[in-house]
Amino acid sequence: MAYQKCMNCGREFGADEIIYFCSKCGDLLEIKYYPDEIARKLRASNWEKAPLSVWRYRDFMPIDDFSKIVTLNEGGTGFHLCQRLGKLLGINQLYIKNEGENPTGSFKDRGMTVGVTKAVELGAKSVICASTGNTSASLAAYAAKAGFDCAVLIPSGKIAYGKLAQAMIHGARVIKVRGNFDQALNFVLELSEKHKTIYLLNSINPFRIEGQKSLGFEICDQLNREPLDRLVVPVGNAGNISAIWKGFTEYHEFGLVKSLPRMTGIQAAGADPIVQAIKNGSDTVMPVVKPDTIATAIRIGAPVSWKKALIAIRESVGTAESVSDKEILDAQKMLAQIEGIFVEPASASSIAGLKKLVENGEVDSDERVICVTTGHGLKDPNIAIKMGEKPIEVEAQMEAIEIALGFKTERAVAVLEGSL
Ligand code: F0G
Repeated sequence: MAYQKCMNCGREFGADEIIYFCSKCGDLLEIKYYPDEIARKLRASNWEKAPLSVWRYRDFMPIDDFSKIVTLNEGGTGFHLCQRLGKLLGINQLYIKNEGENPTGSFKDRGMTVGVTKAVELGAKSVICASTGNTSASLAAYAAKAGFDCAVLIPSGKIAYGKLAQAMIHGARVIKVRGNFDQALNFVLELSEKHKTIYLLNSINPFRIEGQKSLGFEICDQLNREPLDRLVVPVGNAGNISAIWKGFTEYHEFGLVKSLPRMTGIQAAGADPIVQAIKNGSDTVMPVVKPDTIATAIRIGAPVSWKKALIAIRESVGTAESVSDKEILDAQKMLAQIEGIFVEPASASSIAGLKKLVENGEVDSDERVICVTTGHGLKDPNIAIKMGEKPIEVEAQMEAIEIALGFKTERAVAVLEGSL
């Protein structure tokens, strides 16, 4: 049996209690387990033979009734050795863990399969989240599968088109808030306090973090449990970096890996409160009041899980770095054109951040590094079209096509036709 525990005052709550913050001190909650119980379950199950997926790790998950699992086949995403990109960046062993290969195209599906399954166990009928886009797309899909009513609050005009399309087609009630993500999140927190019938599935919900920790487990398994030096991941609301760290540390506690990687968080320069806190050695995070970046997924000024993220980075002796919009877009193009992996701008920030850290001498070329790319490039087609080389439009004639492809020059054709 799992339980919930306040990360500040240590107060404990049952796993079936619907609560998002500690009722005593207001801090974040974490899911805790009885290690002997997990060890017993692991010994009895054949989990290491199961295919890679979130549910391979079911013995580490806070779900009692596996018959209730709501799944769209999440996890088991690609783990790509990127030799060409590595050479360009000056890293000998560089891997991309491509979370865009999840069912709705982002890592959020790992959290939602567990979070929505928990909602079924708890008897919820309706679910809600605030989102910069991917969480809303994922929740809408899993709510559809579970037969729940779903509402999502998004910042008006600041979410990528593909994500909006997903939330709409899966039948969520989409509310565009004339404000930013941080404001939308405050509204859903208040709503879920006020209307107890609606279950909140932002990453403040510790059950979602449990699903996302499978990303850490999976990386260890894809590396055959060999040591990893550094993990680089984009940071927005700071749930994912905290979740991955939880995965790594649990595997370590069970003796499944011998060492832990340095957690390296990357934020966009216009929305980088965690980076500022790490650089200033501060124990708190000063919110960015007007966050702004082209990477709309991480356009967040007041990350709710900041405390967990600071712990992950500091405990692992990691670091944090911010990158400009230009650096993000250059990295997006580089990854697409050198490795064939198309990711959305927020995801490319991990590559941009690694590039900067190597250039600054903070990352060594001998390190074994994994960059997590968090969402698929098709989520945000407008950016790709704006940044890419423009298509050439021609008449439906072979000659025009040959000229466009450089097989013939316009001048040569004109000479042949006698018009020159
Ligand atoms: N990358 C992508 C593509 C995201 O969508 C997000 C977060 C992040 C990185 C950052 O992850 O918040 O756990 O630090 N998107 C959320 C959303 C906020 O609403 O879809 P984080």
